[in-house]
Amino acid sequence: MSATPKAKELTEVSEAQIAVHWKEEEYYQPSEQFKAQANMRDPRIFEKFGLDRFPDCFKTYADMLTWFEPYHTVLDTSDAPFWKWFVGGKINASYNCVDRHLEKHAGKAAFIFVPEPEAEQDVTLTYRDLYERVNEVAALLRDLGLKAGDRVTLHMPMVPELPITMLACARLGVIHSQVFGGFSGQACGSRIEDSGSRMLVTMDAYWRNGTLIDHKVNADIAVRAAKELGQDVDKVLVWQRHPGKYSAKTPMVAGRDVFVNDLLKDYKGKKVDPVALPGDAPLFLMYSSGTTGKPKGAQHGIAGYLAYVTATSKWVLDIHPDDVYWCMADIGWITGHSYIVYGPLATAATGVLYEGVPTYPDAGRPWRIAERLGVNIFHTAPTAIRMLRKLGPQEPRKYKYRFKSMTTVGEPIEPEAWRWYYDEVGKREAVITDTWWMTETGGFLGTTMPAIHPMKPGSCGPAAPGIHPVIYDETGAEVSKGSGKAGNMCIRNPWPGIMQTIWGDRERYVKTYFAKYNKNPKSKDWRDWPFLCGDGAVQAADGYYRILGRIDDVINVAGHRLGTKEIESACLTVPEVAEAAVVPVQDEVKGRVPEVYVALKPGVTPSQAMIDRVIKANEEVIGKIARPKHVYIVPDMPKTRSGKIMRRVLAAISNRRDVGDVTTLANPDVVEQIRVMVQGKDATKTQDALPEDIAKFGQVE
Ligand code: WTA
Repeated sequence: MSATPKAKELTEVSEAQIAVHWKEEEYYQPSEQFKAQANMRDPRIFEKFGLDRFPDCFKTYADMLTWFEPYHTVLDTSDAPFWKWFVGGKINASYNCVDRHLEKHAGKAAFIFVPEPEAEQDVTLTYRDLYERVNEVAALLRDLGLKAGDRVTLHMPMVPELPITMLACARLGVIHSQVFGGFSGQACGSRIEDSGSRMLVTMDAYWRNGTLIDHKVNADIAVRAAKELGQDVDKVLVWQRHPGKYSAKTPMVAGRDVFVNDLLKDYKGKKVDPVALPGDAPLFLMYSSGTTGKPKGAQHGIAGYLAYVTATSKWVLDIHPDDVYWCMADIGWITGHSYIVYGPLATAATGVLYEGVPTYPDAGRPWRIAERLGVNIFHTAPTAIRMLRKLGPQEPRKYKYRFKSMTTVGEPIEPEAWRWYYDEVGKREAVITDTWWMTETGGFLGTTMPAIHPMKPGSCGPAAPGIHPVIYDETGAEVSKGSGKAGNMCIRNPWPGIMQTIWGDRERYVKTYFAKYNKNPKSKDWRDWPFLCGDGAVQAADGYYRILGRIDDVINVAGHRLGTKEIESACLTVPEVAEAAVVPVQDEVKGRVPEVYVALKPGVTPSQAMIDRVIKANEEVIGKIARPKHVYIVPDMPKTRSGKIMRRVLAAISNRRDVGDVTTLANPDVVEQIRVMVQGKDATKTQDALPEDIAKFGQVE
């Protein structure tokens, strides 16, 4: 057992500060024991997935699925860059995740649901149970008039009814759009409108941090918000967290709202044949933030997406049917779609589904669950790792679980936090994969193959098989490995997991992901369309990538992407606010958090009440995760002579760095006034350079 992380170090050095000083790290080797049992141990896999074998190499992935009719074309590029994978075949995702396992695994747990209250019993759903429940819900949705191609918005918490509803939609070819349960009703409403859903599926309440939260209230707000935007919702299906009992205070709306449990009484034992759908039909939408204030609906297709998450669940997560796998993330984000629901179920995994907060009621909770359920593969985000380390650095030692492999996802992990994960959580036995990817990519892009590559703390590693990254500078020149220079991370080739388009906005899809480095917009050759990931990165001499963070106006708050423009428009819903600017600030646990600067309209007096209203506006328009760390009411924004707000200057002040030369601004004096307001009169600022994502922030202005 390793030495305990020093308690002093935990309190005195912020993780974010450590990040700035990253140096070249040492390698950690996977154990022989792990290597011997791994699904993928053949290093020649990278030759087999070389660019010279592209795209046919990905047939191996499609072969992991069961097809109703075989596809004839691996990759159709005729509508570049709208890639079509595995064209001509017929397939169903629900069949692949459920029905096909009945023969061998009917009695095996598909999900073990762990409610947040510790006194409440787990619920085990075997593959047979899942099959029955998915069929019943599919039959109900069909009778409510839904058919292939329709959209349904889900606004559900972390309960088994969420994957059941998703799979029921998939069975019919209905496109589901799950909105993260923690998002506000308004945020849900704008996503309903964008997707054109006429039905909302929600739950009355759920447990979070010891409280049974009324969630139905958000459905009413969502429906109202959607209507204001011009989209009618005729039906709201309400699951009950405690079946048979209504746990919300918000009344049901007659004619519109119905309890799913009541309707399902007529559907006992009903079966629905999975619809044989074209391989390139859409499976779901997942909204994500970008440079503009309007979230974009990343559209994922059935066969390409499912093949990609299935293969990576097998090879990277190393899931075998007899493993107990726990991804402690929310299904409302892409990680949960790909690596709680679709990938693991397609590999016949047993997965843990945990409802609540990792530190409830204490920082030992995850390790108690792992011990009790025999979890041996664990998957979570750096923000949870930092939090568990901060609150209970020695808790993992008290429990007798054994992990063979662990994954981290969602943000860069600092080597210090990585080492705690490795030493304490993994007990120096478990391998770690640091998986870098995003909503748009469906599955992992950068990761080690756990039995093939050594690990290097803070670097995701090389790329997954068949993924061929390239780092370009602003001029389009390649940044070579080992140069120590950062650039824009791109992928040279399409891969099956890539999104199909932005729902309803083809132009934005091309502009956001391809326009920067595409030289010939008419080209049908995939080689002309490198995919711009949206992250800055450096590649070390050994080929490993270190991801530096977003290069667009997106702040990664505890692994959740929030657009600064979305936050700024939320602030501007307070009528007294004249201008708002949002900047990212380093945070010890959450990685980055938003800080807000507002200027008030003439004649309005600054007050605490005004600050509270700005905070409340963010919670209402986006959700609690968008709560700013601070709101500062400033006399004026620092501006260029042409009137542009200099967010870069505000970011330097918020992060206690040198603001640089401000003499060319229209109002240089205001900078010092704001600095004193934020830092106090004699604040010492650090001489460290700003982390890349923050330094780049607002650069375009
Ligand atoms: C960041 C989450 C460093 C990155 C799967 C990316 C990471 C954004 C990592 C996508 C990682 C994700 N190391 N950064 N291992 N994984 N990111 O769409 O900035 O919610 O662009 O998808 O998270 O966030 P998204």
